[in-house]
Amino acid sequence: TSQGLIDGLGRKIDYIRLSVTDRCDFRCVYCMAEDMEFLPRARVLSLEELVALGRSLVNLGIRRIRLTGGEPLVRRGIVELISALASLPGLDEVTLTTNGSQLTRLAQPLKDAGLKRINISLDSLDAERFSRMTRRDMLAQVLAGIDAAVAAGFERIKLNTVVMRGYNDDEIFDLLGYAQARGIDISFIEEMPLGQISSHDRKQVHCSSDEVKQHIEQRFQLLPSTETTGGPSRYYRIPGQSGRIGFISPYSHNFCSSCNRLRVTAEGRLLLCLGQENSVDLRAVLRRYPGEPLRLESLIRDAITRKPEGHGFADQDAPQVLRFMNMTGG
Ligand code: GTP
Ligand code: 5AD
Ligand code: SF4
Repeated sequence: TSQGLIDGLGRKIDYIRLSVTDRCDFRCVYCMAEDMEFLPRARVLSLEELVALGRSLVNLGIRRIRLTGGEPLVRRGIVELISALASLPGLDEVTLTTNGSQLTRLAQPLKDAGLKRINISLDSLDAERFSRMTRRDMLAQVLAGIDAAVAAGFERIKLNTVVMRGYNDDEIFDLLGYAQARGIDISFIEEMPLGQISSHDRKQVHCSSDEVKQHIEQRFQLLPSTETTGGPSRYYRIPGQSGRIGFISPYSHNFCSSCNRLRVTAEGRLLLCLGQENSVDLRAVLRRYPGEPLRLESLIRDAITRKPEGHGFADQDAPQVLRFMNMTGG
């Protein structure tokens, strides 16, 4: 059995984000270009390959798997995949990050399949702004999906809001109130510079977590919460409220030194860091040597020793990461 995965800098790696598809029914401005070309199906890992990969990762010491996209719920068989992963011995939890568009139909089946926590993107409560940010007119559907998730009784629900100046930065209190009224968490996120996007100038719309936090503190007391999900969100509580408020601040509070995670793209490329281009092709090994997990496992173990120290988002001279977020797995 395994001692767990430790990278070259002594970080313990026990969390993986698996992208199950690069496709999505939204075109969020911070994530994608208007017209995207998606991968042909043959290049995407099959459900069987994803389960085999999951099993090997757990053998290596991964304890949590988060499924991402694109939009994971547009992948056929996603509920069955979650059941299969959730039943792997040694895994603590399977979680999912979604845009919420399919949840009226899928919230209950996902809960029944063993999904513990679910994170749902919500950038605006105003239909027109929602469409401006996601390029799709689906606010009502997403809100109904959030209600369905609350009704299904997940252990924890977190909303994700990417804060963009001039887009939704004046909606912080509304979004916060919406989350608190339902007793669910909300994270405010600084936009990360992944992929070449032409709809806006990322520097101009950037809104720092400190600004958002100070804005909230004009009305509410924020008490630091010691609880963590092992992720980058720094959590706070408002006295008397059960939902927490998180800040994900890759620019202003770089958290790379405590990174615990890896990503796998929909094509089965192991990304050692979200903000770097180096990757390892796991699909080739999965396909060439099916039923030989030890090969895959030694490839992954070896790759981890080369995990970079961190992203270079705040470094003006760092090369632009060309990979879009939907390929990156959030
Ligand atoms: P848990 O920790 O499992 O609750 O999830 P999370 O908050 O990390 O995941 P979620 O999918 O909700 O992602 C929220 C935001 O955090 C997204 O914008 C992600 O891109 C970002 N994020 C997650 N992990 C990392 C990371 O390691 N580095 C950076 N820079 N951003 C991350
Ligand atoms: N910067 C920060 N967060 C992003 N997300 C997508 N693209 C970006 C970006 N460029 C977030 C979405 C979703 C999660 C998977 O990643 O809001 O909640
Ligand atoms: Fe789709 Fe999520 Fe990207 Fe929006 S952020 S386009 S919902 S993958």
